[in-house]
Amino acid sequence: MTEQEVPEAPRGGRERPRRTATAEQVEAAWSDTKLAQELYHDWEAGSYDDKWSISFDQRCVDYARDRFEAVGGRPAQPYGRSLEIGAGTGFFTLNLMLAGLVESGVVTDISEGMVEVALDHAAQLGLDVTGRVADAERLPFDDASFDLVVGHAVIHHLPDLRTAFAEMHRVLKPGGRLVVCGEPTKVGHTIARRLSTLTWHTTRAVTSRVPALSGWARPEQELDESSRAAALEAVVDLHTFDPDELAALVRESGLAGVRTHGDELLASWWGWPVRTFEAAVPEERLGWGWRSFAYRTWRALDRVDRRLARVVPQAVFYNVSVTGFRPR
Ligand SMILES: C[S@@+](CC[C@H](N)C(=O)[O-])C[C@H]1O[C@@H](n2cnc3c(N)ncnc32)[C@H](O)[C@@H]1O
Repeated sequence: MTEQEVPEAPRGGRERPRRTATAEQVEAAWSDTKLAQELYHDWEAGSYDDKWSISFDQRCVDYARDRFEAVGGRPAQPYGRSLEIGAGTGFFTLNLMLAGLVESGVVTDISEGMVEVALDHAAQLGLDVTGRVADAERLPFDDASFDLVVGHAVIHHLPDLRTAFAEMHRVLKPGGRLVVCGEPTKVGHTIARRLSTLTWHTTRAVTSRVPALSGWARPEQELDESSRAAALEAVVDLHTFDPDELAALVRESGLAGVRTHGDELLASWWGWPVRTFEAAVPEERLGWGWRSFAYRTWRALDRVDRRLARVVPQAVFYNVSVTGFRPR
């Protein structure tokens, strides 16, 4: 699909009530990481697009395509049948399809709520997508059944990465490609976390102590809700990555031509504090002008980062992507 043909899809889709888990389920989830993933992401599914500014329009099509091609290259023809693990609300597969890189997609996720939302989006966009609830460590598909396997911001949630990569290798056809993008690096994640923490404390301190800025303080009640979610988030994020170690792990699965790519350096030093600032102040204070400025600045820094990627070690970028193919 060309730039002009990408439809203007609404952000976030329809409103959904949050799925709630029982107190017993939540208690059990503290010692069962898979259950924690399922409950947390089910709870988050209805609001996930808003939280991460996910849409199915040119902005996200460009983002998904750029991340994919930076590591996986530009294919001569679209991939036929693609599988996504931990697809969430469909951000990667659906935008790659809108970009014309994939013909038909299967989206899977351990959270039923996420799969439902992804399929709703696909239907609204008229894309050829099926969905299934599935654990990435036990894929319910035949050997050699996909031309492409993709993941975005997912493998840092998987307890057993060796088993997951072995599964991805198994379901790929000989010659088929794996592309996993958007995984946090050890160094990049640490820097981003520190910048975010600093932004949070500074914003809270300034808005609570300077009377003229009191209207910028977010009500405590809203903060309680976000901090409960933040606590659950800490349980589901299991790994950060060193690019070389990640490449070695993927090679172990039997894939060949393995390479990694670092994404977002300066863009993450801007993007994470901006996200944190936006979470710390009332939403209505930040209008279209601010959002447009924040996004344009992020885009400009992202362009600089692509040049820096040629000289700066991948390990310091915020995200790492990895690719490889199943030998024939
Ligand atoms: C951070 S979200 C990313 C979603 C989507 N890929 C995106 O980029 O917007 C991680 C997703 O991985 C899913 N997940 C976590 N553990 C999983 C597992 N073992 N198997 C499959 N999906 C899993 C979660 O339910 C969640 O939807």
